[in-house]
Amino acid sequence: MNAPGIVGALHPVVVTGGAGFIGSNLADRLAREGRHVLLFDSLRRAGAERNARWLRERHPERISLQRCDIRDQTAVRAIVSEASAVFHFAAQVAVTTSLLDPTEDFAINVVGGFGLLEAARRQNRALPFIFASTNKVYGDLADIPLVEEKDCYAPLDAAIRANGVSEERPLDFHTPYGCSKGAADQYVLDYARSFDLPAAVMRMSCIYGPRQMGTEDQGWVAHFLIRALRGEAITIFGDGKQVRDILYVDDAVNAYLAAWRNIERVKGRAFNLGGGPANAVSLRTLIAFIEGRLGRPVETRYEAWRPGDQRYYVSNAQAAEHELGLRQPLPWREGVARLIDWLRREYPSSPASARQKEAAE
Ligand SMILES: NC(=O)c1ccc[n+]([C@@H]2O[C@H](COP(=O)([O-])OP(=O)(O)OC[C@H]3O[C@@H](n4cnc5c(N)ncnc54)[C@H](O)[C@@H]3O)[C@@H](O)[C@H]2O)c1
Repeated sequence: MNAPGIVGALHPVVVTGGAGFIGSNLADRLAREGRHVLLFDSLRRAGAERNARWLRERHPERISLQRCDIRDQTAVRAIVSEASAVFHFAAQVAVTTSLLDPTEDFAINVVGGFGLLEAARRQNRALPFIFASTNKVYGDLADIPLVEEKDCYAPLDAAIRANGVSEERPLDFHTPYGCSKGAADQYVLDYARSFDLPAAVMRMSCIYGPRQMGTEDQGWVAHFLIRALRGEAITIFGDGKQVRDILYVDDAVNAYLAAWRNIERVKGRAFNLGGGPANAVSLRTLIAFIEGRLGRPVETRYEAWRPGDQRYYVSNAQAAEHELGLRQPLPWREGVARLIDWLRREYPSSPASARQKEAAE
């Protein structure tokens, strides 16, 4: 798709990575609310081109696309100079890829992110800046004592079991991806502190929902569904008892918008964002649920744990809920059922073959 640039979109909201999974959902909501949105995306992720096309078709007047790499500082400065707000999602998103090519991971996530942030600072105006960080900034959490139950790990500590992991948890970057996202996270917070940039950070757990083209490397909820719908085996790294709190993408979008609307009050803050203990699910539990929905067994294969894998991570998102006035998240069973329906509608024959086709484009 050719980039129409930012002509006609006076002071757009800039969404880097706006053709990706979360970015495209946010862009759609912003456009529905009447905003002009500039997607700044290299379209390197399989499925991004499709998301960009979908957005442009739905909102031809309000969405523009600049196909560009976040490392292109000249382009970054140009879009930031026009922006009314910046949501920064563009990233090298996979731990696995960061281990294969830490240099590129660093260049995209740290240098690219820093260039964007610095461009925002140089505006010398209160430009809202919201950054998509990750729970990986807390490391593998191996010091949290766990009990092994039939299908999941659970913390021994009653408070963590009831509430999850809060922002009080010390930072402990593991893997190049954890380091690069963590470094960007810290720069954003410091730019709020040192330069009074109205900036905030969302440390997300696992987000899932429509427009997610999950792969083995990132986006496991959609990845499991795509494989299961296609009748393919799912590879589980570890024993499948690892637990994550999953959050439906609409709820994540609500949080980003609330952070923007309340940025003067919440600037300089980092919030954990996830489904919380009520939406904590182990890989085994999710697979059992998928089997129930599809009415047939799903083949699974087991491989060794991957570096930095957390046995248990559940967000304590109470600070975000309270400060940003968030509603109760969608219950995970309902959200996963919605995602199954979306995948079936969007890819009636085979979601995975469509994904392969896009990857080859
Ligand atoms: N999805 C999750 O559960 C989750 C959890 C924690 C953090 N995050 C963070 O949220 C952000 C969005 O995640 P997502 O799941 O939507 O990922 P995604 O891969 O769907 O979206 C990222 C987008 O960035 C684009 N991109 C990648 N490298 C780029 C570059 N060098 N220049 C310009 N664009 C580039 C891709 O084409 C893609 O459209 C990422 O920063 C990720 O680290 C996501």
